[in-house]
Amino acid sequence: MADPRSRVLLDQAALAEGLDALAGRLWGRLDGKEVTAVPVLGGGMFFAADLVRRLPAGLVMDFIRIRTYGDATSPQKAPKADWLPHPENIESRTVLLLDDILDTGRTLQEARRIMIEEMGAAEVLCVVLVDKPIRRAVPIEADDRVLTLEEDLFLVGCGLDFAGRFRNLPDLRALEPDEA
Ligand code: IMP
Ligand code: MG
Repeated sequence: MADPRSRVLLDQAALAEGLDALAGRLWGRLDGKEVTAVPVLGGGMFFAADLVRRLPAGLVMDFIRIRTYGDATSPQKAPKADWLPHPENIESRTVLLLDDILDTGRTLQEARRIMIEEMGAAEVLCVVLVDKPIRRAVPIEADDRVLTLEEDLFLVGCGLDFAGRFRNLPDLRALEPDEA
């Protein structure tokens, strides 16, 4: 299968460097706490797998899946969870919510709301591979990120997909406009 026409933003060496630096910053915030890392499926699992292997041993992993539905009767697309972590992995714990990208913010806003309001997390840190602040539509900020993207580019690789494909590209790329 052909690669998409794209421009590499972070190659594998730059990614590893960014992940090492991010993990170094997170150690101080997580050490000594009861931590559960919660990747947002499916895009967040690639970034999460790379990051947690650089974090203190002994953290727990669990998963959330959020899908965004919209139709004629509800034009405002609303994210809804259709897979939740086990309650005992969230209640009274520090939750590290991990996703590939913070774009409009709707996905992580809903995931964070569920962790705190419905499942009783003690604390939630939202950490993403890419932060795209110019697209933000709801009030949520990342607690940390590998990369802040100032332009509105469409990214693929490292978990990010275009129509379900290219998640498995090992580097982070911007699709050429005529490809997207
Ligand atoms: P949100 O807009 O912050 O809720 O992000 C929703 C989802 O949109 C993310 O989890 C990604 O799956 C997807 N998304 C946003 N921007 C991009 C992109 O540049 N490439 C691929 N997927 C994206
Ligand atoms: Mg996603």
